[in-house]
Amino acid sequence: MKTGKRYICSNCGDEFTSWSGKCFSCDQWNTLEEITATATTEEVSKAGKKLTPQKITEVVKHSEKRITLNFGDVDRVFGGGVVPGSVNLLAGEPGIGKSTMLLHIASAIAKQKYSVLYVSGEESPHQIGLRSKRLGVTVSIDIVSSTSADDIANTISTGGYDVVIVDSIQTLASSQARTSAGSVSQISASTHMIIRATKDVDTAVFIVGHVTKEGSIAGPKILEHMVDSVFQLEGDRYGGFKVLRSMKNRFGSTNETALFEMNDIGLEPVANPSKALLSERQNVDGSVVLATIEGTRPLLVEVQALVNPTSFGYPKRTASGFDLNRLNLLAAVLEKRTKLRLSDKDIFINIIGGIRVQEPAADLAVCMAIASATKGLTLSDDIVVFGEVGLAGDIRHVPFVEQRLKEAKKLGFTKAIGPPQSKKVGGVASSKNLKNALNTFLANA
Ligand code: TYD
Ligand code: MG
Repeated sequence: MKTGKRYICSNCGDEFTSWSGKCFSCDQWNTLEEITATATTEEVSKAGKKLTPQKITEVVKHSEKRITLNFGDVDRVFGGGVVPGSVNLLAGEPGIGKSTMLLHIASAIAKQKYSVLYVSGEESPHQIGLRSKRLGVTVSIDIVSSTSADDIANTISTGGYDVVIVDSIQTLASSQARTSAGSVSQISASTHMIIRATKDVDTAVFIVGHVTKEGSIAGPKILEHMVDSVFQLEGDRYGGFKVLRSMKNRFGSTNETALFEMNDIGLEPVANPSKALLSERQNVDGSVVLATIEGTRPLLVEVQALVNPTSFGYPKRTASGFDLNRLNLLAAVLEKRTKLRLSDKDIFINIIGGIRVQEPAADLAVCMAIASATKGLTLSDDIVVFGEVGLAGDIRHVPFVEQRLKEAKKLGFTKAIGPPQSKKVGGVASSKNLKNALNTFLANA
């Protein structure tokens, strides 16, 4: 192995052998940082000793005991509580509510007589105190303000706490790295120290990590690889729902989500998300209720479309909460496979409540909303829609049909328009293709 200087880009994480003002991979300026060189082959072979493996059946240290978090559906997202000795990253944009959520969680854990330490590198103990007072925290949680990764790691390794919260990793600096806090080498050095500190104690650690505007966890992917689990808090910063999602989980599935709402006493779990999402719905043209699946949970959301004649130049397509490329594709399919003329129309799609719909089952609802808005026709009040739309205008099967319908029924919807395969489940007006589906739609308008 070669020795010598290496440079890593703090934006994209790519490595280079020489320094330059601009990263050749991501075109960012002044992001290359020197990292310590690796040892030579001889040094490596002398430094190490032979490993002594154990039998896989004999290595389980303790029965998998978890600390329940008792805050909304967070336990489900974590796979049944947080595992002692694990390091968990809570990522999200600044201001989304990470500190608030962890304070709620800290309080719920402390209520179960676990010892909790909240280390903040961003806020003073006084500020956290004020916040926790507002959130109604009455239990005792130790609070300290520190930006030294060494001190924090040392505190963790003494094993005095069941749970330690570190807010945020971007503010920490370790004596192991010489760059400023927030740089790639600092973030990885600090995270390493914390992870090493948890190795021999059963302390569960939560680390807060800010994500950049582009949505990547600042101090690139390195953090994600190092920790046991990555949870992301996303949503609209201004109102709307916040969704906690599991991106990586060494101790559970990554399918679960939890929904919250931010109000003046902190984050509040949303007990009935579908109901909350539809509470302000007015049944007008361009509005369709989609039965979607968030993780493994069915959710009813309102899809809105606005279709206007294009007044100048190219038709405009805009989507909020839905993939723009997918919208363009669906508009093309509608144009080609049905009698709708959209080439001279601006199309706007909006998913209500700050929800982001990613599954293909939303296709049909988006198509229906566009059709409804174009024709100025309103779909009957009691119908939900789901189904994937293919390029041929065919409507494809989607999973979890029964769950979708059950959720719809719970909220008083009696009919559904969906793919042909869902026919065997009662109450679905199934359609083979878009034309057929739009006819069903018109019959119910
Ligand atoms: P915060 O948890 O500080 O965000 P993060 O740690 O992710 O940067 O809180 C984000 C916003 O939430 C903050 O701007 C104010 C708002 N907020 C409330 O609306 N109500 C509350 O009770 C609290 C604590 C915060
Ligand atoms: Mg914060």
